[in-house]
Amino acid sequence: MNHRRHEELKKIISHHDYLYHVLDRPEISDFEYDRLFKELLELEQSDPTLTLKDSPSQRVGSSPLESFSKGKHRIPMISLGNSYSAEEIGDFDKRIKSYLKRSDPIEYLCEPKFDGLAIELIYENGFLTSALTRGDGTTGEVVTRNIKTIKSIPLRLKTDNPPKLFEVRGEVLIFKKDFLAMNAEYEEMGLNVFANPRNAAAGTVRQLDSSVTASRPLRFFAYGLGAIDGISFETQKAVQASLGKFGFPIAEKLTRICSNSQAVIDFYIEFEKLRPNLDFDVDGIVIKVNSLPLQEELGFVARSPRWATAAKFKPQQAESVIEEIQVQVGRTGALTPVALLRPTKVGGVQISHATLHNQEEIRRKDIRVGDTVVIQRAGDVIPEIVGVVLDQRPATSTPYEMPKVCPSCGENVFVPENEIIPRCLNPFCQAILKESLKHFVSRRAMNIEKVGDRLIETLVDRGLIRKFSDIYKLTAEELFSLERQGLKSTRNILDSINSSRKSSFPRFIFSLGIRFVGEQTAKLLADHFVTVDRLIDAKSDDLLSIPEIGPKVAQSIVSWFSNPKNVAEVRELLAAGIYFSEPSRSFSGTLSGKSFLITGTLPVPRDQAKDLIEQNGGKIVSSVSAKLNFLVVGKEPGSKLQKAESLGVPILLWEDLQNMIKN
Ligand code: IVH
Repeated sequence: MNHRRHEELKKIISHHDYLYHVLDRPEISDFEYDRLFKELLELEQSDPTLTLKDSPSQRVGSSPLESFSKGKHRIPMISLGNSYSAEEIGDFDKRIKSYLKRSDPIEYLCEPKFDGLAIELIYENGFLTSALTRGDGTTGEVVTRNIKTIKSIPLRLKTDNPPKLFEVRGEVLIFKKDFLAMNAEYEEMGLNVFANPRNAAAGTVRQLDSSVTASRPLRFFAYGLGAIDGISFETQKAVQASLGKFGFPIAEKLTRICSNSQAVIDFYIEFEKLRPNLDFDVDGIVIKVNSLPLQEELGFVARSPRWATAAKFKPQQAESVIEEIQVQVGRTGALTPVALLRPTKVGGVQISHATLHNQEEIRRKDIRVGDTVVIQRAGDVIPEIVGVVLDQRPATSTPYEMPKVCPSCGENVFVPENEIIPRCLNPFCQAILKESLKHFVSRRAMNIEKVGDRLIETLVDRGLIRKFSDIYKLTAEELFSLERQGLKSTRNILDSINSSRKSSFPRFIFSLGIRFVGEQTAKLLADHFVTVDRLIDAKSDDLLSIPEIGPKVAQSIVSWFSNPKNVAEVRELLAAGIYFSEPSRSFSGTLSGKSFLITGTLPVPRDQAKDLIEQNGGKIVSSVSAKLNFLVVGKEPGSKLQKAESLGVPILLWEDLQNMIKN
């Protein structure tokens, strides 16, 4: 009985993992999913005879390893030759034709060159038995436990008669938006941030503690095979289709079959234009001869296949000059050096500053004011300094030293033990106050839209605000007396402050800016303690009983609330009329139980529209099907509109959606 239910649960949960993580089209609520998962765990705890190797319970990570063991690839993981232009793509095609002594067009499969970490997944009789990094191509590291935490990777092939051996090759990566959110969270926690999504993905796969890996947003795309036994294919396209059928994420929509080299070149040019809008980083396209028999015939030259090439995009790099190094004070008091650059275009985007991270980084690269530097947009998202052009260094330049005092208040700074970043600890430092206030009013915190950075600077400089709760005491006269402040904008500011009083407990906790308490932790605390008073009185043991909270975070929370000034401020905020209405776990609200999809440009940012729908109980889905309840349409809608119309899905304009929520 246990075994039957266990097999069933494994199947159901894997199916929902697939819907959620591969197809991005969940069919059950988080709540239902958690319930199934809990049943699975309870069953496994009560009966040690159950098979765990393909159980979703294996995805949560386990105790840290001392080191990774090594494993040999049955077929070496070789690298690709590179092309850098339309011309070189033409040369690649010519080489192939001359080698094959053919003149008729060759068919190619073109797909993204994912910028992540190459991984080999080994499936024996359908079960994922081992996962290896590429390593030196011959031998890689065994990272099976980490790889199993990636929910889009099937633990068992989605088929009833699996081949004896099936080695899948693909790339582990992190989506740009997940990377930015993760870095923001790390910054929040006072931890080092990652330079780019590729480094973050690579570091995470090679983490000795798989529970850390499990906490990070890794994704996977399959693009090829290693050794196989008991299955065969005729084309690269068929390989891709079969990978999709077996349950792997594939970049099907970004793949094109090109019937000749000109079509490949067209794709290369089109794809580069698409690059900034993709969810993940790419550094080019990979061009593969589609026919596998032809691939075989072409074979290898040196360490690369003759039948494939990576057509890279031009590096998004440029030279600029460091005009100044400015030291910014964050809301936790951390001092961060930032290079102010002579404004320069990199990959179509104007760059005027780049973070230098810390003194260590500056020393390592020996970066000085006045230096000519090579800058690049790391993984398309964050500008960084690659290095200094030494022969253009001014003769008078000297090494850069971080200041020993806070650039805002002039107090001595302090480097905490085991950290490298100096901090200003002055509780009255204006820079810290300004940054804390900017965080307090930000969209994900109290969401006081009309109180922007500039206004905060002015209000603090004028002495009108000394702490968070002062915001709720601002009067029309005070605001109106400021420069450039009209009657209408004064009213808007007061309205927006007023509507922020209606908030939620997690948002409120997050706004306080307690060190190490990001949005995620704030949600956990709200769920656990439910009321402000219980949170204020939280003891360390109580906090540590929440699985995701460790000693460092617990300590920070206890110490924050042990300061009577902080507690008084919390009470003052509540006295100012802040109250909680948003449910922490949704599925209630006027849109409850309905699914929505947005297409086209709405009058508000996409994120905001999604939040609005979710906050009112609606669910966001990512593709049109007959089951979709509503399509929300903005300006210049895509093909989704036609599809929805043909399926009879009701169409809403932005105004319709707003009315629906109001009623
Ligand atoms: S196929 C024999 N396809 O590029 C050819 N590789 O230089 C094997 N890569 O580190 C590679 N996207 O991880 C292939 N669509 C793609 C790829 C891809 C990224 C990486 C791969 C390897 C490097 C090869």
